[in-house]
Amino acid sequence: MKTITFYQKKPGVFRFMGWLSYGITPWLAPLILPLAIISDRSTAGAISFISYSSIAIISTFPDSRKAVHSVHQLFWGQFRHHLLSRQVSKRLRETLLHAGLVKKEHREITGSEGRTRRQEILHYPCAQIHKDKVNIYIQFKMIPGQTEQEWERKVNAFAHSLGSSLISFQISRGIVEITLQYGEIKANSVTYKTDTDHNLALGYATGGKLTWDFEHFPHALIIGPTGTGKSTFIRNLLVQLRSEWIVKVADGKQVEFTHLQDLGFDVATDTSGFIRLVEEAQTEVDQRFKTMETQRKNHYSQINEKPYFLVIDEAIYLLEALSTKKDKETGQSERERILGLLRDISLRGRAAGVQLIMIFQRPDSTFMPTVIRDNLTAKIVLGGSETALEMAFGRDKSKQLDSVTLGHGYACIGDGRIELFRFPDYAQSKFLDDLEQQRSSVAIQ
Ligand SMILES: Nc1ncnc2c1ncn2[C@@H]1O[C@H](COP(=O)(O)OP(=O)(O)OP(=O)(O)O)[C@@H](O)[C@H]1O
Ligand SMILES: [Mg+2]
Repeated sequence: MKTITFYQKKPGVFRFMGWLSYGITPWLAPLILPLAIISDRSTAGAISFISYSSIAIISTFPDSRKAVHSVHQLFWGQFRHHLLSRQVSKRLRETLLHAGLVKKEHREITGSEGRTRRQEILHYPCAQIHKDKVNIYIQFKMIPGQTEQEWERKVNAFAHSLGSSLISFQISRGIVEITLQYGEIKANSVTYKTDTDHNLALGYATGGKLTWDFEHFPHALIIGPTGTGKSTFIRNLLVQLRSEWIVKVADGKQVEFTHLQDLGFDVATDTSGFIRLVEEAQTEVDQRFKTMETQRKNHYSQINEKPYFLVIDEAIYLLEALSTKKDKETGQSERERILGLLRDISLRGRAAGVQLIMIFQRPDSTFMPTVIRDNLTAKIVLGGSETALEMAFGRDKSKQLDSVTLGHGYACIGDGRIELFRFPDYAQSKFLDDLEQQRSSVAIQ
């Protein structure tokens, strides 16, 4: 992580010249050093000539050329970094000024001839800026008298002025922290899980792989408007589920995961199948709890059970299709009954090792009661639409997060930070080939 200097005033030409001379030091040194050290001009000139000729010869060989290049970069890089600091500072100063986040002070100055004139002095907030390959992290210290609302309203302007996207911001105790993304996160390779740990890679964030520890943060809620890569994302997760784990898939669209049946997966594509899978998962929770109770254990791994996943793609189609007619005996509709079972799984599933992964285009509260939504502790939004972000993270946390391009998403695990990540494009055919290969290698073992 590199630090960018924030210049509250435009840095002077001397600073520029200073950094420029530093930047070209390796090229000037062979000329200036001999002249400075040796009084005999012709000897100094000869040494300079030999030095430059040696550099020229070294540069003709590809291997040694790299060394010359890296020395140049070492010095020139610092000069370029100074230029970047100047540019970023200029943009930030302009943005702060236009956003009204600068304190202006007017002073009367009396000149030597006795005339007074008014001078405007600008006080900028102190800033610390860091950058890595993908993000710029800016931390401003609010000027006394400024309010959080003033900053909140203008926070997007910083992203626009630096030509980047806002991926998170937070204000607390007078400190404004803004993270902007300017570079690209790469997510070329699908993760194939080789360990038995109870976590799954969601994709790549700026710090590397973003993993979801489902043991500590059970159940996932995935929201993405149509075409944002929900099914692709699920394929990336499904390929990581180990073959000894239990995986059940309810497919609301009836086209995405039916092929998995051929590979021995339990896939439901209609309402009755969906009901069966939810009932089975809830019965599993009950049974595991009973066993744990009789064996006086409090975790499913202690009774030799494996993680159990119920993946519900396009859950809204399945929930919508459930009858809302109240049963005379129970006073409950079918939809209420199923939502009740899902609620129970979401509440007690963690200790029993039964995980829900629910995928929605829009988790409308009629189909997705807040109680269940809150219990799905890994929240993922693909595409980053405003309503989807608000539904997943709440208005406060998601405020002004920029929408993202295809292949990106925001994840918030537990109460942690909202992180931008990218997941690989993973074609259905490749996914099915991979699964087939995995299953056959298990069969051989
Ligand atoms: N990570 C990615 N990078 C690039 N393209 C992607 C990525 N993920 C998905 N896509 C592309 O986006 C398109 C839609 O993907 P997908 O079918 O997974 O979305 P979806 O949200 O499930 O859509 P729907 O709402 O129609 O079910 C596909 O053509 C896919 O190739
Ligand atoms: Mg889909």
